[in-house]
Amino acid sequence: MYRINENYLKLPGSYLFSNIGKKVAAFSEAHPEAPIIRMGIGDVTQPIVPAIVEALHKAVDEMGHAETFHGYAPDQGYEFLRTAIAKNDYQARGCDISADEIFVSDGAKCDSGNIQEIFGPDVKIAVCDPVYPVYVDTNAMAGRTGTYDARTETWSNVVYMPCTEATGFSPELPKETPDLIYLCFPNNPTGAVLTKDQLQKWVDYANREGAVIIYDAAYEVYITEENVPHTIFECEGARTCAIELRSFSKNAGFTGLRLGATIIPKDLKCGETTLHSLWARRHGTKYNGAPYIVQRAGEAVYSDAARAQLKEQIEYYQKNARTIYQGLKDAGYSVSGAVNSPYIWLKTPDQMTSWEFFDFLLEKANVVGTPGSGFGPSGEGYFRLTAFGTYENTVEAIERIKRI
Ligand code: MLT
Repeated sequence: MYRINENYLKLPGSYLFSNIGKKVAAFSEAHPEAPIIRMGIGDVTQPIVPAIVEALHKAVDEMGHAETFHGYAPDQGYEFLRTAIAKNDYQARGCDISADEIFVSDGAKCDSGNIQEIFGPDVKIAVCDPVYPVYVDTNAMAGRTGTYDARTETWSNVVYMPCTEATGFSPELPKETPDLIYLCFPNNPTGAVLTKDQLQKWVDYANREGAVIIYDAAYEVYITEENVPHTIFECEGARTCAIELRSFSKNAGFTGLRLGATIIPKDLKCGETTLHSLWARRHGTKYNGAPYIVQRAGEAVYSDAARAQLKEQIEYYQKNARTIYQGLKDAGYSVSGAVNSPYIWLKTPDQMTSWEFFDFLLEKANVVGTPGSGFGPSGEGYFRLTAFGTYENTVEAIERIKRI
């Protein structure tokens, strides 16, 4: 008789955004007339910009001719895309990352969930609290997180680093030394950032303790402040302790196209073994690469024409973020995030729990957000809204929230 992976049974409920989807679908069925505005999951609404659409068309045409047809992509991704990423996202910022340290994938979510596979079954992970749930859930699936305590909503074998108002929503160095540290900045869900000096402390800590930092940089394009690093490789010594995850979803609207990249410097070693070689082995065995046409679209992200068009698109979402932030402040809410992030993090009013506020907002304003407690116990009493909607819906949602 076969056995299942019982670690899955330890997971509480379903994935956060599936839960929300089900709740909204039920509400919508009961109130088909309700003009729901979705500001929950961080999915973009603006179309792929023309310069990228043009590159997609060209690549599709190539696929239709024997001379320019492409089959399986190279394991690590096409050289043209890896070179563009290395040059524009790293070397242009003075970071020593080369094209062969970049692995192209179909998105940062998969990579952030899969990367734990190359580490031992008993490594201890540390996460911010609140945190993007994928980091914890995938380690739970792998049997690394111990037992789940429904009362405290924590796992016994995870180091939680509270990111609260008291800590300025950034984590403090943990008392218990972990092996793997997940950091995401600009942060999902709080929108908080680390300055370069603050991030340098983490890099120094990881090098000193022999830990690895998994750095999720999915939201870096929303940074507006000067002293905030766009990549962990701006920090001295990051090549020996950090892996970085990048996404094309939030900077170029690829949530439906799917494209991401993971950067593993060859100096990152456990004894004599490079983590690069392990991920290369994993990639080669389990993955056949992002489609050629999508990788060509990714290359086009770095063209002058696309850059100008994307700048406008990001500014559009940034304007939404400011509108939400200011609107909520005017309405008396305690708000953070937004300045370097598409996420706005607000304190629920009148001591409501996060889920109570979710129901309240859905019922009274027909606005969907994400309950902070879904990201971890320190998210209780908080709520996340995203700036990825249309401007009209954003303005309308804030007007409705002000009226309740
Ligand atoms: C979010 O809403 O937290 C993100 O959209 C999730 C993701 O990028 O997978």
